[in-house]
Amino acid sequence: GAALRRSTTEPSRLVSRSCYSSGPHPERKVVILGAAGGIGQPLSLLMKLNPLVSSLSLYDIANTPGVAADVSHINSRAQVAGYAGEEQLGQVLEGSDIVIIPAGVPRKPGMTRDDLFNINAGIVKSLCVAIAKYCPNALVNMISNPVNSTVPIAAEVFKKAGTYDEKKLFGVTTLDVVRAKTFYAEKAKVPVAEVNVPVVGGHAGITILPLFSQATPKSNSLGDEDIKALTKRTQDGGTEVVEAKAGKGSATLSMAYAGAVFADACLKGLNGVPDIVECSYVQSTVTELPFFASKVRLGKNGVEEILGLGPLSDYEKEGLESLKTELKSSIEKGVKFANQS
Ligand code: NAD
Ligand code: LMR
Repeated sequence: GAALRRSTTEPSRLVSRSCYSSGPHPERKVVILGAAGGIGQPLSLLMKLNPLVSSLSLYDIANTPGVAADVSHINSRAQVAGYAGEEQLGQVLEGSDIVIIPAGVPRKPGMTRDDLFNINAGIVKSLCVAIAKYCPNALVNMISNPVNSTVPIAAEVFKKAGTYDEKKLFGVTTLDVVRAKTFYAEKAKVPVAEVNVPVVGGHAGITILPLFSQATPKSNSLGDEDIKALTKRTQDGGTEVVEAKAGKGSATLSMAYAGAVFADACLKGLNGVPDIVECSYVQSTVTELPFFASKVRLGKNGVEEILGLGPLSDYEKEGLESLKTELKSSIEKGVKFANQS
């Protein structure tokens, strides 16, 4: 199958055919639900460019055939298929290794992520019912907001279907890390490529807790006020974009980048690459809350290990305590929704 396709499109590689027949990378099917949207389109592009992907299935309620035809002409390994309409969800999902979900409405200025709950909770729920039915073993990367609630909704749907595996459900919080790195690099005047900053908690306002005390490379030039400003900017990063877009939606390009980084880490984990660590919002015992974002080691079955918070500054300890009430109620709201309707 794929080996044959590769050898016809890349004849120069025929010489290493024996290597290719087993493949440099295993076959991996990635599905994007909401692929024709603001995030979905650039994310489809980035996943098409990822050499770890052998099959890319794009799904939306409309406009996916165009996105799929477009992206399919790119010279990379992944075979692309586009699907539109609920009756095709089975075909879309079957055999998938990773399902990425950016389906749902984005914020407009003045809205919180929780204001999206009423529309997006139902969308996520119905997509998760289909995932439980057609690809219960796939890793799920949840992007749809409010992530603090949509991940618990997915967990409840999977529990009801008898397919829940807490190692395979991820809230994508990578964009918070991407922002924290950029803002820190600017302020500390260090190359962003060298920077790492863990971001823990959840994905909305004060529940986003960047741990700048653990940022690397260390900077001695940043004072308490700088750290507070960096923290606030990271927490308000989504709102910064929503306001700049002035009614035309929220982050799409940086989110597609972040989603592609996280999916790539998941693929590497599945393929057995060691020491793949990313922050993600997962079922957790790091705090008393049932879901919490922290550093996670990814492996062949999804979550291999949830890493602890490490040493926190007093400012971060305060931030941790003050985020718990909101995060707890967003989790409970999701659980309640999934079980009542
Ligand atoms: P968008 O409106 O541009 O695209 C959403 C897409 O979802 C549309 O194409 C729509 O047709 C599709 N869709 C709606 N219902 C669907 C269904 N039942 N099945 C499949 N597809 C469906 O919005 P966007 O800017 O791409 O944002 C999507 C979501 O991602 C929003 O909820 C937004 O808040 C969230 N988001 C999350 C993060 C994060 O860090 N986790 C970052 C940015 C945006
Ligand atoms: C983000 O952080 O950019 C997303 O969650 C979208 C939003 O509504 O802010």
